[in-house]
Amino acid sequence: MSSAIGQPVARIDGHAKVTGQAKYGMDAAVPGAVHAHLVTSTAARGRVTGIDAAEAERAPGVLAVVTAANAPKLAYGGEGGEELRGPIDPDTGRHLRLLQDDLVRFQGQIVAVAVAETREQAEHAARLVRVRYAPEPHVTDLSEAMSGAHEPSAEAKRAKPARGDPEAAYDAAPIKLDALYVVPAEHNNPIALVSTTADWDGPDRLTLHDTTQWTHGVQEHVAWVFGLAPESVHVIAPFTGGAFGCTLRTWPHVIAAAMAAKVVGRPVKLTLTRAQIFTAVGHRPETRNRIRLAADRSGKLALIEHDALHSTSRYEEFTESETNATRFLYACPNVSTSYRIVPMDVQTPTWMRAPGENTNVFALECAMDELAHRLGIDPVELRLLNHDFERDPDDGRPWASNALRECYVRGAEAFGWSLRTPEPRSMRAGRMLVGYGVAAATYPTNRMPASAAITLFADGSAEVRSASTDIGVGTYTALAQIAADALGLAMGKVRVRLGDTSLPRAPMQGGSNITASVGSAVHAACLDVRRQVLALARGDGNSPLTGAADGQVQAVGGRLFLAGNDSRGESYADILERHGRASVEGQTDAQLDPESKRYSAHAFGVRFAEVRVDPATGVVHVHRFLSVTDGGRIINPRQARSQMMGGMMMSIGMALSEATTFDRRYGRITNANLADYAVAVHADAPEFECIFVEGEDRHTTPLGLKGIGEVAAVGVAPAIANAVFHATGKRLRDLPITPEKLL
Ligand code: MOS
Repeated sequence: MSSAIGQPVARIDGHAKVTGQAKYGMDAAVPGAVHAHLVTSTAARGRVTGIDAAEAERAPGVLAVVTAANAPKLAYGGEGGEELRGPIDPDTGRHLRLLQDDLVRFQGQIVAVAVAETREQAEHAARLVRVRYAPEPHVTDLSEAMSGAHEPSAEAKRAKPARGDPEAAYDAAPIKLDALYVVPAEHNNPIALVSTTADWDGPDRLTLHDTTQWTHGVQEHVAWVFGLAPESVHVIAPFTGGAFGCTLRTWPHVIAAAMAAKVVGRPVKLTLTRAQIFTAVGHRPETRNRIRLAADRSGKLALIEHDALHSTSRYEEFTESETNATRFLYACPNVSTSYRIVPMDVQTPTWMRAPGENTNVFALECAMDELAHRLGIDPVELRLLNHDFERDPDDGRPWASNALRECYVRGAEAFGWSLRTPEPRSMRAGRMLVGYGVAAATYPTNRMPASAAITLFADGSAEVRSASTDIGVGTYTALAQIAADALGLAMGKVRVRLGDTSLPRAPMQGGSNITASVGSAVHAACLDVRRQVLALARGDGNSPLTGAADGQVQAVGGRLFLAGNDSRGESYADILERHGRASVEGQTDAQLDPESKRYSAHAFGVRFAEVRVDPATGVVHVHRFLSVTDGGRIINPRQARSQMMGGMMMSIGMALSEATTFDRRYGRITNANLADYAVAVHADAPEFECIFVEGEDRHTTPLGLKGIGEVAAVGVAPAIANAVFHATGKRLRDLPITPEKLL
């Protein structure tokens, strides 16, 4: 009998999506809703000294212009939860509080909100608001801000201590490398515009339709800001059209929508423009990773040193795992890492697909390629030589599972790596320079506590419920497959409800954790339902399952039966009907197994890229790309392949075109639109091949899962950069690799 898990089934929400029935945040249609439009700061630092809203207030349809002068005072109260709310601003001793003071911390900060009957009227009114500033000197250029670099104030966020004796190792080694790798600020740019619709029912009950990755996170943050009990904030987000990390936090525009609705006494919809998204939500910080490597002539690493730093805002410390992968991807007796953040007058940076790992691995895997070239060793060989396939070399724990060797072996074979001639500029296709590049990928297997509920109905169908969002990754379908598998139901019999705080609590949809976290909860809840149904049948003399124990029973085709004897069983429908039950309900809080901490749990992968470089124009096209991934047990190979393709596309943008640029004079983003900020599009797509190797991790989840959404994007940019070096002989260490840098 084939299980639903592992089948390449089409998305169960696919029909709703292509027919427009799937309602995204900006589709929220709340009766009587009016519209808000943000007025954002044109100064990068300083104070608002006055706002003239008279003309805006007289404009057609305008209901209110909310500014710091007339905004309701908000609580921003309560204890704890710094993870949710962000750290305290060292200058003011406070969080950034929307319209509660006159401080300007970055260009694009919300300074007023215009509310009107229609979206167009609100936008028009917003343009009529005159804001005066007392600007102060600002810095948005990392080089100029460098003197402010410091370690994170939280001890836990700092780099771990060195291993061995790095300095002595560097001095003694015959082969050395010291290089700086730069990734500019980048923006997540989900295609669905970021939107919140706020609807108050009396002074202390609020419903929010929001584009978020974490319904309960919005609930708790908004409750904290308005001084409400969390239960009185209801967050609804059935579909979120991409996010990649930028809506893991609850940003001030969400508060702006709720505040505006409170002021005008009507439901308010606030949809950010594309330009506003560049400053309303965060971005990948500008990152500089200095890597020093040393090796003996056989290629064995003698030293890995990594000094990482990236931008943060002036008023919050954004941190990410910038050096973690450096400490375990290769075994080495001498390892040193440092980590600093650099405050600038920008919106606080945020997570962007594989935050930390993506930029970390870009630097490390380019450095390994440079080392391979100096050593005259094949880059795949060098990696195989230095990876510890048994245990995590940083802390000595065994891997929860690790199929990286198979990724290299199968990948090299499938890609035709042996056809690569090592010398740069040695391969051509007509007039085009051809380059092959390789890089490793890794991302932690994250699992968090999660709950889920299942109802099995007397008609033999089931409903799965979780507050988790589905940001486009296929959560609806994956959870349906897990439930169908555990209950032995056809996929068509399983419905899934997500994205609502009235449903069982789920963690944030970030860190590639939802399938592992919520999937484990769904699995456990299904087993609970099965036990309950079997308990009904077991004590029933009329049932063929009389006296059957849990472990003896299988579930397939909507029936429970004795393992190995499928005539001794009966359908859920028959059991429930005979016992007069309309349904059976299962609910679980899936907690983490403390034993899992004894293992180091990661997804792994290898990325192979073939680029074609036009020697006349310097234009790089990724011609072929192969993602080989140990992503644990794959629930749905079709969705998993889409994830790998999406991660590759996003990182092709990272490698070749994406960079958020600031005008240092005004502290303003100069390319806050999709024409000038160039994400990769279909025309940039290579021939794509995707291989998953078996790497089930049974320590972290009973189902053997690892997350794959983020590892998909890791290793792509360095594979491309390494291929560009192979094609051209030119080593570019600062992304993106644009034609003008190559020529
Ligand atoms: Mo991902 S950056 O954790 O949404």
